[in-house]
Amino acid sequence: MDTGPDYREGLRKRVFEVLEHGRRREPISRLIDGVLIALVVGNVAATVAYTVPDIAQAHGAGLRLFDRFCVLIFAAEYVARIWAAPEHPMLGHHQPLRARLAFATTPLMAIDALALVPLPLELAFSQWPLIVLTRLVRFLKLARYSPALATIGRLIASERRALLACIIIFFGVLLTAAAAMHAVEGDLQPHLLGDMPKAMWWAAIMLAKIGGSELVPLTTLGRIISAITVMLGIGCFALPVAIIGRGFYEEIRRRDFVVTFAMVARVPLFARLDAAAIADLVGILRARTVPAGAAIISKGERGDAMYLIASGAVEIGSASGPVRLGEGDFFGELALLSREPRSATVIAIKATDLLVLEADDFLRLMVRLPDVGAKVQEIAQGRRFSSALS
Ligand code: CMP
Repeated sequence: MDTGPDYREGLRKRVFEVLEHGRRREPISRLIDGVLIALVVGNVAATVAYTVPDIAQAHGAGLRLFDRFCVLIFAAEYVARIWAAPEHPMLGHHQPLRARLAFATTPLMAIDALALVPLPLELAFSQWPLIVLTRLVRFLKLARYSPALATIGRLIASERRALLACIIIFFGVLLTAAAAMHAVEGDLQPHLLGDMPKAMWWAAIMLAKIGGSELVPLTTLGRIISAITVMLGIGCFALPVAIIGRGFYEEIRRRDFVVTFAMVARVPLFARLDAAAIADLVGILRARTVPAGAAIISKGERGDAMYLIASGAVEIGSASGPVRLGEGDFFGELALLSREPRSATVIAIKATDLLVLEADDFLRLMVRLPDVGAKVQEIAQGRRFSSALS
């Protein structure tokens, strides 16, 4: 069997594609994802079950064996991902070792590494509560498969200023309420309000309203401060919940799958861009999945976006006859460039994943990345020409 550098590189590329969703619709990728998800869920369920003495006694050996099996698979998955890391478009310019080290520090890989920790811990210490805790961390591995979770991370990052303001407000209210209560009833109830840390603990409980504090205000002023604190607490928690909730809803509505760096880097139109420009695009492009037969664009309507095909295929009912476009192609640029209605109807001929570039972002991109702009113009010109000829 050939095991030369070319073969190894080809294999590495293939492993990367399969594991890191190079092609989303590949059955092998889906199968591997499905098996890994099932193992994570099964492993967490087994860990929970193992804490019940009766189940541990009856099925302990089987559950332990299952856990070892899971760890073996997770370890193989981890090693394969690290090994294939130099294929990552953003790390390709590094030496393989540096690429792997950089990849190992990404959040998802850190979670994968954490998922392997319980076994050595178990072998070294056998501190059962600690092992349960660390084993249950494996649940976080599911983050890889949840577009919604990836979205939350991005959302927290983008709303960090508003969230920081919420935290500052919360601590401001907490300190004020604690200081007021300490001043009013500190002498009356020294065991609960005698110093600021005690009063702050009372204020935290009142703000979060977690089951009520053991403290009953003795003075009218104390009751008024308590009532105001509880009401402010509702506001303090409602604010960040509203910020995250609204952003989350907006994002979920607009995204059907996670746009990855690899997905964008593979689009021929962006082939010459550097890593920073591609990373920017990852944030700009929206994901949309359409089923076979769905009309993505209808002739005559107003153009509001351009589409890039991440996987799948579409058919364009152009005046010169039907035109098929596939993975890596784009369409929907003519209406944006000419500000005229859509020139043709575009239909998905199989389930298709699209990267959507909104009109505003498209126009900004044409200015910011003149090479990409020129390429789009050139292809658009050819399309106009072939439509005009017919
Ligand atoms: P737009 O007019 O915005 O919407 C329909 C899209 O179909 C159009 O942009 C082009 O991207 C694409 N299109 C139209 N005619 C052709 C053609 N002859 N060849 C390839 N693509 C076309």
